[in-house]
Amino acid sequence: MQLALCVLGGAVSAAAEYTFLAVGDWGNDNSGQYADAKGMETVAEEINAAFVLLLGDNFYADGIQGTDKSSRFETTFEDVYNGTALEAIDYYVIAGNHDWKGNWMQPPGARDAGLALEQWEWLSATLNASTADYLWVGGHYPVWSACSHGPTFELVETLRPQLEAVGAHYMSGHDHCLGHIDDGTGVQYIVAGNGMECCYDPTNADKNPDESIKFFAAGPGGSTYEPMPFTLKSGFASFHVTSDNMRVDLHAHNGTVLYSTPNITPRSAAQKAKIADPAASALA
Ligand SMILES: *[C@@H]1O[C@H](CO)[C@@H](O)[C@H](O)[C@H]1NC(C)=O
Ligand SMILES: *[C@@H]1O[C@H](CO)[C@@H](O)[C@H](O)[C@H]1NC(C)=O
Ligand SMILES: *[C@@H]1O[C@H](CO)[C@@H](O)[C@H](O)[C@H]1NC(C)=O
Repeated sequence: MQLALCVLGGAVSAAAEYTFLAVGDWGNDNSGQYADAKGMETVAEEINAAFVLLLGDNFYADGIQGTDKSSRFETTFEDVYNGTALEAIDYYVIAGNHDWKGNWMQPPGARDAGLALEQWEWLSATLNASTADYLWVGGHYPVWSACSHGPTFELVETLRPQLEAVGAHYMSGHDHCLGHIDDGTGVQYIVAGNGMECCYDPTNADKNPDESIKFFAAGPGGSTYEPMPFTLKSGFASFHVTSDNMRVDLHAHNGTVLYSTPNITPRSAAQKAKIADPAASALA
């Protein structure tokens, strides 16, 4: 398993609400993706979203074959997220398992153990040294998830304690579902992997901590885990940050808010700049 992660942190001005969108598992040139793009446009405009995070599986099924001139940059991306609001903002993209040419059935395990360790050290040092009020890590693979891929136990073992130590939160795709998991440690987990379809079956719900699943759109059209108000074609998440608190909204393909997390509070002083190892400040 490749570790593809990014870290966001930053100061937020007192009055304003700072917002952005996130979605994974989107790049399929199909009606579910096109419907999602319309809803993302509606919401991006309404909330004045600052950017979009794309959480991997950007080019189904085998990544880009050929060169950076591939027509799929247009057909799968530029000609899809092309409403006025979505055209005006930036996209930050990580790779998913389908983006590795011909390798999407790879078994779990680092593709390059040395590089994986380097990335891990960077992530850990960056998290430890951060003084941001809110820290989110985005990866393709979920830590916790209810659907057919389920939790990623390598991340449960390695990443989860690190998130807890610094009071960071985590967002991912991979499971084609939309949900919020709160395992009681203060870390919030968002799965937004239904950028082009909805949804995988909730076959791994019982592999998550008891009572941790707060919301999950799962099964065909979102029909099998808990009732949705209408049939979902796909979906995405929006993040709303103020200096006092933040929340995440989970949206249907057309923008309707299906669920909002409770308010998430800023990190405590003790969680900020928690540099456990002096070597970390040299790495950061
Ligand atoms: C987006 O691109 C598609 C394909 O070229 C086109 O049909 C559509 O009209 C464009 N939408 C906007 C809002 O420009
Ligand atoms: C970051 O902090 C954690 C927990 O306090 C510690 O285990 C880890 O070694 C630190 N990371 C680095 C790169 O120093
Ligand atoms: C989304 O679609 C559902 C079902 O057709 C409809 O009830 C809802 O009003 C729509 N939401 C928006 C924002 O258009």
